[in-house]
Order: sequence, then structure tokens, then C-alpha cells
Amino acid sequence: MTAATDIALLSEEMGKVSKAIDGALGRILPTSEGHEAQLFEAMRYASLAGGKRLRPFLVLASASLFDVPTERSTRVACALECVHTYSLVHDDLPCMDDDDLRRGMPTTHKKFDEATAVLAGDALLTYAFEILSDPETHHDPLVRAELVHALAKESGGHGMAGGQMIDLLAADHEMDIGEVTRLQQMKTGALIRFAVEAGGIMGRATRDQFHALQNYAHDLGLAFQIVDDLLDVEGSEEEMGKAVGKDADGGKATFVSLLGIERARTQADMLASQAVVHLDIFDDRAELLRLLPHFVVNRRH
Ligand code: IPE
Ligand code: IPE
Ligand code: MG
Ligand code: MG
Ligand code: MG
Repeated sequence: MTAATDIALLSEEMGKVSKAIDGALGRILPTSEGHEAQLFEAMRYASLAGGKRLRPFLVLASASLFDVPTERSTRVACALECVHTYSLVHDDLPCMDDDDLRRGMPTTHKKFDEATAVLAGDALLTYAFEILSDPETHHDPLVRAELVHALAKESGGHGMAGGQMIDLLAADHEMDIGEVTRLQQMKTGALIRFAVEAGGIMGRATRDQFHALQNYAHDLGLAFQIVDDLLDVEGSEEEMGKAVGKDADGGKATFVSLLGIERARTQADMLASQAVVHLDIFDDRAELLRLLPHFVVNRRH
């Protein structure tokens, strides 16, 4: 297959996943007619606003390595997207990055108010665990417990939330490349790691397969955040659907501020190529996972 057909195949598959996840999230997210209805509206507003649905794609692609039924992996993908969306809602708050635009629309606190945005984030986070612990997600309670444990770990103080803390401190502290790598692995890498691990948990991966998936996620997650930082410098608000130039304005230490644009791009490309090599132990079912790093480093939004 030529590179152009590979890219077309990946775009088509990503488009299908986006549509499927929009539909599934629309069905799975709760509604209410009571006085709390505004909370549910805000949860839906933030979650159904689009987005690349990269993490759901990774859940589905990693699960398909083990022939996990799509109904199951879709529920896990929705749970993860709830956590990711919550992280964005809180990341945009005035006390954090203070952003007005997300996925091309007003941020949740702009559309509603700050308190509603905080609560919508809280409820999205907890709803993720309600989804994962539901027998409909997996009949085996041990698999459900493992999924809950893994997502809790990757979202919390040793994962995304911890990374966000260090990211805020990075504005006022000198950080070297090792410290920035650790911060990126926590704030962004952790949820990407869960996305890739989830397929292995549901599919009862062997130890070697699980390690291969973790190594792939490690390189992909870092490449993804380096590109986010590059696009903050090189991208446009129109394409990104969010403000650009924020990291430099905030004095944030990133791969780009430490290495410069050229070397940061080389690093992202190198990580993308390295990610693919970890998949050697899988058969053709890993084809989409093999193509994804190329998309990640060449994306414009
Ligand atoms: C944005 O993530 C936040 C980061 C971790 C860099 P995405 O770029 O995946 O955001 P959406 O979901 O496509 O909007
Ligand atoms: C946020 O990183 C990552 C999260 C855990 C939400 P950024 O602050 O760089 O994300 P953007 O650029 O606002 O999407
Ligand atoms: Mg931030
Ligand atoms: Mg931000
Ligand atoms: Mg950013």
C-alpha cells in the first residue's frame, strides 16, 4: 500500500470513530429534567463539541488487536473521553489557563459560568468510573476493576492531575528537558497510556504484549504533546479551535522553549518512528496503530 492510501485509510477510520463516539456519548451521557439540568447540559456541551477523539480511537484500535467486541471498547472509549473532556474544562478555567475558546466554541465556563464548569468537570470525571464499573462494559468484575484502577491511576496525582500541577509551576520555575519530559508524560501521556492499555486489559494481553503497548503509548504520548506545544507556536486559532501563543505568553517551559522549533520537531518525528517499532510483536491488526504516529506529528489541529 502506498503512503497516500495509508493516510486515506487512517483518516477514514478516524472519521468513523469520531462519528461513533459522538453517537455513543450522546446516548451514554445522562440527562435530567430536575433543577440540576444545567449540570447535564454543560457536561453534554463540553463532550459533544467535537475534538479529534484520538484517545477513543486508541482504545478501539488497541482493543481490536485482541478482537474485543466493539460495544465494550466503545463504552471504555466514552469513559476515557469523559475524563479527557473534564481535564479540558478545568484546564480552560480562569484559575488555570484562562481560555475562552475550545474546539472552536466558547469554553464551558464562558457558555455557562465558572461554578457550572467546575461541577461539569467533577461529574464527567465520576461518570467515567460509573461507566467502567457497569457490568455492561465487561462481564468480568476483575476486568472492570482493572480498568477502574488503571484510569484512576492515570488521571490522578501520579498522572494527569499531577502533571497539570507541575505544568502550572513550570511558568515560574526553570525546568530542564528531563523535568519537562516527566511533566508531559504525566499531563498528557498518562491518559494516552490508559487508552492504549485499555485494549490490553480487556483483551487479556500477555506481559510482552502489554509492555509493547506501554512503550508505544510512551513515545506516542510524548510526540503528541510536543506537537501540541509546536502548534501553540506555529498553528492558528482558526485551525486549532483554541487560542495559540499561550505557552510563550505564560512563560511555560516546553520542548519548544527548551529545544527550539527545529529540534522539537525532530524529536517528535523520532518518537513517532520509535513508537511504531514497539508494535513489531503484533500482526496486521496493528496496522492502524502503526499509521497513527504519522498523523499525530503531521496534524494541523
Ligand atoms: C488537548 O488534547 C489537550 C492536550 C492534552 C494537549 P487534544 O488535542 O486531543 O484535544 P481534542 O480532544 O482534540 O479537542
Ligand atoms: C492540557 O495541556 C493538558 C490537559 C491535561 C488538559 P494544555 O494546556 O497545553 O492543553 P491546551 O493547549 O489548552 O489544549
Ligand atoms: Mg494547560
Ligand atoms: Mg490549556
Ligand atoms: Mg497546549
